[in-house]
Amino acid sequence: MRLVWPYWRKYRVQITVGMLCLIVGTFMDLLIPTIVSRIIDQGVMAEDLDRVLRLGGLMLLVTGVGAVFTVGRCIISSRVSQQFGADLRVDLFAQINRFSYAAIGKRDTAGLITRMTNDTAQLVGFTNSLMRMFLRSPVLLVGAVTMTLLLNPRLALVLAGVVPLIALLMYISMKVGFPLFTRLQEALDANNAVTREYLSGVRVVKAYNTFDQEEARFDSTNTTLAATATKAQRMVGIFFPIISFAVNAGLVLTLWLARDWVAGSQMQVGQLVAFLNYMMQISMALGMLFNVYQMLVRARASAVRVGEVLAEPDTAQQLGAAITPTWKPCAIAFDRVSFTYPNGVECRGSQTSHGIPRGESVLHEISFALPAGKVLGIIGPTGAGKTSLVQLIPALYAPTGGTIRIGGVDTTACDVDELRANIAYVAQANTIFYGTIADNIRMGKHNASQKEIEAAARAACAHDFIAAYEDGYDTIVGQKGVNISGGQKQRIGIARALVRQAPVLILDDCVSAVDVETEARIMRAILEAEETPTIVLITQRISSVMNLEHILVMEDGKVAGFGRHGDLMERCEVYREIYDSQLGRGRDC
Ligand SMILES: Nc1ncnc2c1ncn2[C@@H]1O[C@H](COP(=O)(O)OP(=O)(O)OP(=O)(O)O)[C@@H](O)[C@H]1O
Ligand SMILES: [Mg+2]
Repeated sequence: MRLVWPYWRKYRVQITVGMLCLIVGTFMDLLIPTIVSRIIDQGVMAEDLDRVLRLGGLMLLVTGVGAVFTVGRCIISSRVSQQFGADLRVDLFAQINRFSYAAIGKRDTAGLITRMTNDTAQLVGFTNSLMRMFLRSPVLLVGAVTMTLLLNPRLALVLAGVVPLIALLMYISMKVGFPLFTRLQEALDANNAVTREYLSGVRVVKAYNTFDQEEARFDSTNTTLAATATKAQRMVGIFFPIISFAVNAGLVLTLWLARDWVAGSQMQVGQLVAFLNYMMQISMALGMLFNVYQMLVRARASAVRVGEVLAEPDTAQQLGAAITPTWKPCAIAFDRVSFTYPNGVECRGSQTSHGIPRGESVLHEISFALPAGKVLGIIGPTGAGKTSLVQLIPALYAPTGGTIRIGGVDTTACDVDELRANIAYVAQANTIFYGTIADNIRMGKHNASQKEIEAAARAACAHDFIAAYEDGYDTIVGQKGVNISGGQKQRIGIARALVRQAPVLILDDCVSAVDVETEARIMRAILEAEETPTIVLITQRISSVMNLEHILVMEDGKVAGFGRHGDLMERCEVYREIYDSQLGRGRDC
């Protein structure tokens, strides 16, 4: 729970005022039974109507003051708790934004969403209830006990027997309840995770008709959740009547003891009524403590989960003196670069599809040099490490060995933000965000003019289909927007990269859903641009790379060949195989 202190500290003035309001409100509540007792004893029993009216007025005043302070406390507590929630969400969002690729790989999206929504809501609820109940219960408890002592010390002895008994029962129920409520929270999380996973992959489930497996998975977590919830509720169901029985037994005992005193005029009826009221207030205060405790259990689990996200170290390279690479023109060189995924051990199965054992290097001693303004074509079987290789260029991951030089500077000596600002990267799995097409393209350059956006879209062969929409560039795409095809998505992704006009352009298999002719047109447009960037092009099509001067052939994380088409046909078996499988033996290029 240490996590919440800095946030609460920020609102310490409001929290203090809120707590003071709470204390005043509670004091007013404590006065009511005493006033009622006076109305009965000094007014009604003495048949003094004047006194009844005066005490009635006083009671109204006390209730009014109590209400004003309670409303004030409500306003403050809801404002503080909601602002605290907003602060926490902003910090979580910013922190997730700062996450390195490795940190993102470690966590599932669904888990991060729960932390930002459900867990934050738990902490907000706890903050609110803390201001509503936390101080109120001890004040009520101490206040009510004091009032009963003042009222009738002999009768207050009943409390000495009943209160510890109730407290003991509550303690036992907390002891039994704590692990149960912790388990309940875990079961709820597990069930949420399965539900979210199912919903995010519902199309695949339908396509493969794996509903039965999904249902079985859901059934299992759902049953556990129901069973744990039943146990927790049963515990509450058993303890609450017992506690309530103890309270009522105390009331009966009080009445029994008081009957002779009232009859013998040693005690007045009003005092008895007040006493009974205070006893009720005491049991209410204990009940509140129980509730706060229950919420604390849940909030603590949430705080741990939120804390994990906030504690993720900021892996962005913090360097004293960042060196600026020569960006225009910009050469790229890899020197014996090796790389292992930080989360490699978590790969499913013991081996990856291409025989790379989990947790082991996916890139081994990769070396090549690409002169500025040239195009590097990377080709190789699936799982060969092509994507892993290009992700190292904008420092999305750090290499585990060797050096990468961009514009003559080791990437580890560059400022990460500057590096990324100068590299346009079209990822293999491209994402279109909810918003207009123009907004999606503008992500590449936030201040791009409509003219620049259109030029980028034209180069990416996307202008024609965008212009065909009724709203053109203002067409809403993404979730709830118009549906666009895979190839159209890819072209918007390319336009997003081109609008940046960066000195380095990385295209990771991003024209796979585009026909060969369109692909050629896109490449022509890129190469004919005023300032040709240095390009790294990953492709599965041999026809896209065979005319390039620099072709890198990869297999099992290693360089299988580097050079021109002719050399590779002679010396590189992997390349020859790819060529034969795509263009056929004996066909000329
Ligand atoms: N985030 C990751 N964490 C751990 N291992 C990964 C991760 N991404 C890829 N790998 C592993 O690294 C190896 C190389 O993957 P990579 O994506 O670089 O291949 P690729 O050549 O781009 O394949 P494709 O042509 O299918 O895109 C694979 O064996 C893969 O299982
Ligand atoms: Mg890939």
